[in-house]
Amino acid sequence: MEEIDWPGMWRKALEESSWGQRAVKPEYWDGRVDQFEGVIKQSNRVEMILSRIVIEPDYTILDIGAGPGTVTIPLAKAAAALTAIEPSAGMLTRLTENASKEEVSNIRCIGKKWEDVELGKDIDAGEHDVVLASYSIVMKEIRSTLLKMNDAAKRYVYIFTGAGHKTAKNSFWSTIHSGKPSPDYIYLYNILYQLGIYANVAIMDSEFEMRFPDLDVAVQHYIQHFKGWIDLAEDSEEKLRAYLSENLVEDDGMLSLKQNMKTAMIWWAKESENSELNSLGERRNDA
Ligand SMILES: C[S@@+](CC[C@H](N)C(=O)[O-])C[C@H]1O[C@@H](n2cnc3c(N)ncnc32)[C@H](O)[C@@H]1O
Repeated sequence: MEEIDWPGMWRKALEESSWGQRAVKPEYWDGRVDQFEGVIKQSNRVEMILSRIVIEPDYTILDIGAGPGTVTIPLAKAAAALTAIEPSAGMLTRLTENASKEEVSNIRCIGKKWEDVELGKDIDAGEHDVVLASYSIVMKEIRSTLLKMNDAAKRYVYIFTGAGHKTAKNSFWSTIHSGKPSPDYIYLYNILYQLGIYANVAIMDSEFEMRFPDLDVAVQHYIQHFKGWIDLAEDSEEKLRAYLSENLVEDDGMLSLKQNMKTAMIWWAKESENSELNSLGERRNDA
């Protein structure tokens, strides 16, 4: 049977999506530090990740695309040491500031793209017990990206990424977004399969809540938020206002918007440890 070209489809989908075109550039992230940090702080991402992955106090962690450290710092607190890979200078500066504010001193930062990190030079193969990438798989050369993650890990690899497209009819996203969606977990799962890595997948709900004093502030927040990120259609503001009027809920004198997204956790244990660690992970995930 002819093999489906998942890596080629991944590249094409990434290149055609407005998110993919921007997210691959570190300078794009330099300009989004405050906004990104604000949004992630309002989400349940940290709790979701920490409750799902196996970290022992003596583990070392490699966090690829660490961003401002919202996830990285709690991970570092739970482990012996953490190496953060982050190519955006703006994100790296914020990560260092946040770590120092929280008096976390076991984080080593490498200011490079994952593609440019050399095993045996920047880090060793199998040096880190856990290799993790949370919403940071934006690399076009996806096979080498995933293989290097596998080689870097001693015990586990975890990838957190979107499941399903945000363009579902009547969703918040489709109200303002006119471009193509970025590729989601199903590409990665199939590419891993073709590489001989039979990964586990769990689909989870991630929640974001944003609170605003009034409708105008809410509309302007989202216009600013999406500007320079996605291609806003001409009538976006009008559509956004209509959507928000319908969906903002009064709560304690504020207007609140709750959004749900599906997150996929793709994870596998290194071959040598497979049976024991897989069952340990499954037990932890069922808890
Ligand atoms: C959406 S943020 C995710 C941040 C954090 N992991 C989280 O879950 O909150 C994506 C991050 O990946 C980084 N990134 C982009 N391309 C990368 C690459 N080629 N290698 C490593 N990191 C990359 C960006 O600079 C950005 O900080």
